[in-house]
Amino acid sequence: MEMDSSVTNLSDNREKKGDPHFDKNLPLHRLVAQLAHDLNLPLASILAYAEELVDLAKERYGMDGFMQIVEYIEIIQSEANHCKDIVDKMLRYAKGLEIQLEIVDLHDLLADCVQELSRRCKEKAITVDTKFWSKPITISTDPTGLRQVITNVLSNACDSIQREGQITIRTEAQKDSVLVEISDNGVGIDKEFLDKIFDPFFTTKDAGKGTGLGLAICQGILQTLNGKITVDSKKAVGTTIKIWLPKRIKAILT
Ligand SMILES: Nc1ncnc2c1ncn2[C@@H]1O[C@H](COP(=O)(O)OP(=O)(O)O)[C@@H](O)[C@H]1O
Ligand SMILES: [Mg+2]
Repeated sequence: MEMDSSVTNLSDNREKKGDPHFDKNLPLHRLVAQLAHDLNLPLASILAYAEELVDLAKERYGMDGFMQIVEYIEIIQSEANHCKDIVDKMLRYAKGLEIQLEIVDLHDLLADCVQELSRRCKEKAITVDTKFWSKPITISTDPTGLRQVITNVLSNACDSIQREGQITIRTEAQKDSVLVEISDNGVGIDKEFLDKIFDPFFTTKDAGKGTGLGLAICQGILQTLNGKITVDSKKAVGTTIKIWLPKRIKAILT
């Protein structure tokens, strides 16, 4: 069966196979889906009215009044957009994953993710080192899902460094799988939290900064891609996240 470039809902497959870690009807999945749907409507309304307000303010007030009003509306918009991001993440978490398999050049994908984060790294004086496997690594996987995993992990690494630090990305090709290792010399993780960080909504970040869904989503995506994610961390020393992926995802579909 040729699966590359076809859209497949692997969550169905996993349900049929009775994956003990995956059940769409778990109360938590239902709750998250319900919450996300319920929040979507009022959020859309807030964003629409914020836009209306900008138009109205332009019409009615002079430049000074207008600028003040615009400033407030922009705060409303940015906060509402932040909520929308959370809702999108909740929906993705609850929905299972639609995946599109492609042949992916792993190093290109990693370089893209680093590029995406470059502004944030620069602001904090974080250097990103790449120790890529000497030969190119191509895998059959879902690039959108994998990109989300890498971006979430890199983003956490970035958050963990207050100022001046280093993130290292190492890759290794093994017989049937590949390893992506992302290390940082940030604040590290308390021993007591190590087994909690993959739980949905677990976060140590301030309200508004963290949703606690990043790693839960990474784990969900990697389960679907037949991969694995592990953590190793020491308080005040740093954290290493290891991500294993099969070279070809085909095996789990047969
Ligand atoms: N590289 C890291 N360094 C230190 N702590 C981390 C790192 N990655 C994850 N964590 C911890 O795991 C928690 C959960 O991460 P995540 O699921 O991405 O949610 P969020 O980033 O929204 O808090 C974080 O709040 C943090 O405490
Ligand atoms: Mg995160």
